Amino acid sequence: MCGIVGFIGDSSASSVIMDGLTRLEYRGYDSAGISLLEKGKIEIVRSVGKLVNLQESIKEYDFTATAGIGHTRWATHGKPSFVNAHPHKSNSLSIVHNGIIENYLSLKEELMGKGYEFHSETDTEVIAHLIDVSYDGDLKGAVQGAVKRLEGSYAIAVISEKEPDKLVFARKDSPLVIGVGNGEMMAASDIPAVLSRTRNFVFLEEGDVAVLTKDSYEIYDENGILAEREIKRIDWNPVMAEKSGYRHFMQKEIFEQPRSIIDTIRGKYRLETGDVYLDITDEMRDSLEKIDRIVIVACGTSWHAGLIGKFYLERFAKLPVEVDIASEFRYRDLVMNERVLLITISQSGETADTLSALRIVKKMGSSVLSICNVVGSTIARESHSVIYTHAGPEIGVASTKAFTTQLASLFVFALYMARIRGLMGEDQARKYIEELIAIPEKLEKVLSQDDDIEELAKTYKDSKDFLYLGRNVNYPIALEGALKLKEISYIHAEGYPAGEMKHGPIALIDKDLPVFVIAVKGSVYEKAVSNIEEVKARDGIVIAVCTEGDKNLPKICDHVITVPESCEELSVFLTVTATQIFAYHCANLLGLDVDQPRNLAKSVTVE
Ligand code: M6R
Repeated sequence: MCGIVGFIGDSSASSVIMDGLTRLEYRGYDSAGISLLEKGKIEIVRSVGKLVNLQESIKEYDFTATAGIGHTRWATHGKPSFVNAHPHKSNSLSIVHNGIIENYLSLKEELMGKGYEFHSETDTEVIAHLIDVSYDGDLKGAVQGAVKRLEGSYAIAVISEKEPDKLVFARKDSPLVIGVGNGEMMAASDIPAVLSRTRNFVFLEEGDVAVLTKDSYEIYDENGILAEREIKRIDWNPVMAEKSGYRHFMQKEIFEQPRSIIDTIRGKYRLETGDVYLDITDEMRDSLEKIDRIVIVACGTSWHAGLIGKFYLERFAKLPVEVDIASEFRYRDLVMNERVLLITISQSGETADTLSALRIVKKMGSSVLSICNVVGSTIARESHSVIYTHAGPEIGVASTKAFTTQLASLFVFALYMARIRGLMGEDQARKYIEELIAIPEKLEKVLSQDDDIEELAKTYKDSKDFLYLGRNVNYPIALEGALKLKEISYIHAEGYPAGEMKHGPIALIDKDLPVFVIAVKGSVYEKAVSNIEEVKARDGIVIAVCTEGDKNLPKICDHVITVPESCEELSVFLTVTATQIFAYHCANLLGLDVDQPRNLAKSVTVE
């Protein structure tokens, strides 16, 4: 949700922090602020709205500070406003916060009783005063004492005029990483914020408190004991987090998909033998041999990937698979044990509901395997094993390349399970691997239709509603296509299993309703054609995503987008990309903020 950056060193703190916030703006963008230790005094600048407003405000100052903290906000307590923007202040200290403090009201009453005045509606101001009330010359100690009283989630950064040579950070259920530089230290909510200054990162664990000076960092665990934490070198490079000539990150990320799929599957197969390799622990390997059921849990786009994973695993590995939305799963009466594998899927590795499901299930004795894009993220660290997607940083709030790399990982995992269960022979495995290897090139052909799809978007961008239909493996693509469109263009769109159309949504069909039908060649092609006929019989507009060379659909549909022929299981990579491009162009043509759509945040670290 919110983005935090802290810096201490010899360079201009305002420049480093503002640069970092620019790279974290995807986490929240309703207001922003910075707090600097300027000549021993705290100076705060805050602005409502996008970061560009803060950039303008800060031009009025000539800061020389070499230490400070910054924040970009996604409102939880109190609407986006100047008073609610972070940083907040209490006497000589200043703080920024990501997360939700659930017991803030009782703490607020207590602090008001001690004479503190509140200037905002935020839960964050409570933390500032709580640290201040017990401050006796030891900022770290005051932070340690304060966080013990907090219920909920937090990542905080604190500076104090009384101890200007240090920054103090703490986290629980909200991410924070320390960037270890040369003669400078940084901390941030996410790696890309400071990737241009270091590739060496230390991931804070639950309950940690960290003290940074320009030459050192110390981490204390939840019991206050000085802790050793491994430095991880991150192989993302700063250019990966740039737009590189594309108009938006989302557009760049759509076009990066052939490369990110290659990166994700590299080293995971041997074509000659049809063998599949996973970089998982021996314990996980053992438990995969014993499981008799799989539960996949995720949110949003990652949940859609899970629905396709179910299809792969049931088809190849003949294992029963349930797929659940994390925020629902965690409140059910779960039937889990050591013979059930939990797979969580998360691009960010920080999604609160998915993380919570993981923690519940771990206690019930099941093994947890996660498919994740961010090395060192909380979900990655708390899982028994991780299959990393190698999508590189995904900055656009609407997920694209993370989704297709999740699909690639699930496909490879399903092949692996089929092989170890003796259900797929060498030849068949080789055939599927060859099909997978061919996907990036086929994707290039879909991407080359960008201009045609843009023309289509010009025709339909002003539609009020869309229906997306798909059956079998195409159903999750209908869901994902509709989600992409609504997220960034704010056009209402419903994804539906095509067979359900006549059980209700058919009532919506008229001459103004564009219906996207995923109708590639495969086991349910004829059924999709019947759905198209039914829509046309009611004057609906049909945009079909069909297989190259299909002679029939161009005759009966209003528009077609063609994708190269591929096996049914892998056609999803191609069809989803067509829907991503369409959604992108609708939003762009409507003049909307594609990368930072309203009300959304990239990393949903609150329930
Ligand atoms: O980081 P995660 O994959 O766990 O995030 C899950 C969802 O919040 C995410 O996929 C969301 O639906 C995106 N905005 C989709 O574009």
